[in-house]
Amino acid sequence: MNDKLEYELNEDIQAVAPIEEPARQEYFMNKCHEIIEQFIIDNGRAPGFHVATFGCQMNAHDSEKLVGILEKIGYKEVEDEDKADFVIFNTCTVRENANQKLYGHLGSLKKRKQSNKDMLIGICGCMMQQPETVDVIRNKYAFVDMVFGTFNFYKLAELLYKRLSGSERQIIEVLAKPELNVENLPERRKYSFKSGVNIMYGCNNFCTYCIVPYVRGRERSRTPEDILCETRRLVSDGCVEIMLLGQNVNSYGINFLEESEIIKENPDYDFPDLLEDVCRIDGLKRVRFMTSHPKDLSDKLIDVIARNPKVARHIHLPVQSGSSSILKAMNRRYTKEDYMALVDKIRAKLPDVSLTTDIMVGFPGETDEDIQDTIDVIKYAKYDQAFTFIYSIRTGTPAAKMEQTDPKLVNERFNRVLEVVRDSCTEVSGRFEGETKEVLVECLNDHMEGYVTGRMDNNILVHFPGDESLIGSFVNVKLNEAKGFYYMGESIKNQ
Ligand code: 5AD
Ligand code: SF4
Repeated sequence: MNDKLEYELNEDIQAVAPIEEPARQEYFMNKCHEIIEQFIIDNGRAPGFHVATFGCQMNAHDSEKLVGILEKIGYKEVEDEDKADFVIFNTCTVRENANQKLYGHLGSLKKRKQSNKDMLIGICGCMMQQPETVDVIRNKYAFVDMVFGTFNFYKLAELLYKRLSGSERQIIEVLAKPELNVENLPERRKYSFKSGVNIMYGCNNFCTYCIVPYVRGRERSRTPEDILCETRRLVSDGCVEIMLLGQNVNSYGINFLEESEIIKENPDYDFPDLLEDVCRIDGLKRVRFMTSHPKDLSDKLIDVIARNPKVARHIHLPVQSGSSSILKAMNRRYTKEDYMALVDKIRAKLPDVSLTTDIMVGFPGETDEDIQDTIDVIKYAKYDQAFTFIYSIRTGTPAAKMEQTDPKLVNERFNRVLEVVRDSCTEVSGRFEGETKEVLVECLNDHMEGYVTGRMDNNILVHFPGDESLIGSFVNVKLNEAKGFYYMGESIKNQ
């Protein structure tokens, strides 16, 4: 780095060091903006960015903030990764094949970067929380411009400024644990009428197969004040549907990030209380939440859902396995019988609820009998949708040290489970055929001209004739034909 620049950069950073973090980041957004203005003068166009997001709703929501920051700086979003001047990969590491996919992507971007000197590549998200992966990027993909993690993604502008104004070719900044919680960043929502709201970060459950607690840290809950304030702001901004997000929303409130008057007054304040408070917000029409760990789903929560029509009749309740001995080895802390009893309890109070789940096949030591238990539960629980995964070994988790099962056997069992899932979910999710349901319209249909696509409160997709003007509104739709995982319908607005 030339001395003058280094001096200026240090001075910049020192000058803003004592400022609160959001203001500090705003400062760097402005500094980047100045550089981008010069790019626009030189090139006659704004630079394009593309954020490729992998993994869960949390990552999708983090990406909305990355997009917000980049737009504030002056970048313009481009759909096509190949046309972007700045490509960011927001990675997931829940399953192993994601790493190979990322390296493949980087390999193909290398050539483009050689022919476009202004092109930048950034990688962030859960995969970057693993030091071995960061070492691979450092050693084999030195052309990647910046690497950051889940605990400091709010620093995008600062890292970008460092890269653009300095001479360091590769900026790597990953924190091992959270240091600051920074909210109220600029964000650009994918949909103007619905949004996710983080209610907590991290996970304390340490399921023995899962990497999440290691890459997202221990559980931290936002205060009810903070969550309610953000939700009110979103509603006044036009959101009619909110999804409360956490790895295990049912343990909300164990460890708050800040002091809270509401908690001081009511130290037992929990997720059902929060859900009920969110439902009280005028103008908000539909509330979802994700994800529920079966061990923590309380009677109180079921009662709150039952008496609040705003809460979507949908519970995502990952079972993972139907076998009590596998569940024990997974450290899930419920048995097959506990899970089935919970399903009964939910259905007794919420007869029209849709249950969805995650299922894993191939956990170490799993036998044919265990698979039969899983199949029993699939048939018993009557899921509308089930996401099936082949167990993937994650270095550093307890299950990685257990004796692994022959992949051939796992594949055969996976296909068997998949077939049961397909049959069962098709039958169950088609049960509303002929009924009329309220649908929140999301977009124009990609494949059928003159059609729009929306979701019922149970999260199932419906396609029906309509135009752009319906996007963001609730429409009563007659479900004419169940097509497996979606419906074809018609609006009954004027009939
Ligand atoms: N291998 C395969 N699937 C996994 N999941 C979590 N960890 C693993 C793993 N190591 C699945 C679980 C979880 C979903 C988000 O991803 O089913 O519920
Ligand atoms: Fe992973 Fe289990 Fe936490 Fe879910 S509850 S994020 S599966 S450790």
